[in-house]
Parts: sequence; C-alpha cells; structure tokens
Amino acid sequence: MRGKFVTFEGCEGSGKSTQLRYIGEYLKGAGIDFIMSREPGGSEISEDIRKIILNGKYTAMCDECEALLYAASRVQHIKEVIEPALAAGKLVVCDRYVDSSFAYQGYARGLGEEFIESINAFALKNYTPDLTIFLDISPNEAFARKHGADRTDRMESQGPEFHQKVYEGYMQLKKYPRFKCVDCRGTKEETAKKILELLKAENIIG
Ligand SMILES: Nc1ncnc2c1ncn2[C@@H]1O[C@H](COP(=O)(O)OP(=O)(O)O)[C@@H](O)[C@H]1O
Ligand SMILES: [Mg+2]
Repeated sequence: MRGKFVTFEGCEGSGKSTQLRYIGEYLKGAGIDFIMSREPGGSEISEDIRKIILNGKYTAMCDECEALLYAASRVQHIKEVIEPALAAGKLVVCDRYVDSSFAYQGYARGLGEEFIESINAFALKNYTPDLTIFLDISPNEAFARKHGADRTDRMESQGPEFHQKVYEGYMQLKKYPRFKCVDCRGTKEETAKKILELLKAENIIG
C-alpha cells in the first residue's frame, strides 16, 4: 500500500524542526517505517537550489525566479525522494512543502494562487499531502523564540510586514480540509502531544 504524506508548515521559528525531532523519536519507538525530509532541499540537487534561494547576497532575485526555483527544487525532491518512499509504503514527513509557496510567493510576494498552482502542477496533481499541520503562532512571537531573524537568510531577513503577510497567506489555506492548525504557543511537549493526537485522529498512524 502506498505510504501517507504529511507536511509541516509555519512561520520562521514556529517550531517545525523541533516538532519533527519529537515525531521522529515517536515514530522510531513505534516501529513505523518513515522518512523525514525538508523543503527547499531534501535531495542533493534540491539542497543546492536551496542555497541559491536563501543566499542573502541575491537581493536582486525577482519574485518569479524565487517561486520557480522553489518549484524546481520540489519536483526534483519528489522524484528522487518522496515518490520512491511513498511507493515503498513509507510514511513521508516533510518540513515545508507547496503551502509555503502559496503563503510566501503566492500571497506575501503577491504572485497569486493561480501562478503558484500552475508552476506546481506536478506536485499538486499526484503529490498533495494527506495532512498538513500548520504550527499556529504569530510571526512576531515565533521570531522571538529564535531571538530574531537570521540576517544571512534571504527569506528570514524580509521585514515583519512580509512575515505578517505570510501568516495571513497561511490562513487562506484553511479552505483545504487537509490543512489543520495546531496552536503551538504552549511548551514544546504540549505541542508535540497535540500533533500526535492529530496524527492518530487523521489515521496517519495507528
Ligand atoms: N513551544 C516552544 N516554546 C518555546 N520555544 C520553542 C518552542 N518550540 C520551539 N522553540 C524554540 O524556538 C526556536 C525555533 O524553533 P525551530 O524548531 O527551529 O523552528 P522552525 O524550524 O519552525 O523555524 C528554537 O530555539 C526552539 O528550541
Ligand atoms: Mg526549521
């Protein structure tokens, strides 16, 4: 049987990496066959594209180029990593995916939903996540957790208004039944517990 596909979304510092570590430990303990990956990246070529996208020196990168690089990195990641794992029946857990493109490039950059849909048609046709968990916390609170933005990271170093728009962009995605918000303002352990409950309620894990 084909594996399930779960993605995590949220603003910078919302706790995605932290929660993926908790889930990884849980899945290992439960003997569940899974892989964890991240976007942009997840394969050698995609990680190299990531370095271009996030390089703070590329202030001249236009929004369309940014969106296309994310989409290119995603297709490579799907073909090399996600598809083989799903075909092998594994659970695939990914830190960011196409919803980041909707929120950051479609909404915050203003490229629009249709443009993002068109350049991500490959991902959206056969590789829509079964469940997307949005770690819900305001961008300001999230940045405070990580003691401010990393100035060498081109996306993190966009101003607070941009990140507020990203959050609003994410809110538009509640229209998709697969997109579930988890209030993550509590402790790491409290959030981890909520996520596990959600994974069970959505029949991702037994
Ligand atoms: N629930 C939480 N409460 C307080 N600090 C947190 C919580 N979750 C994560 N953190 C801390 O916030 C920072 C950002 O978390 P991280 O998991 O790296 O976020 P992301 O991967 O979404 O950018 C880290 O220093 C992490 O230890
Ligand atoms: Mg992270």
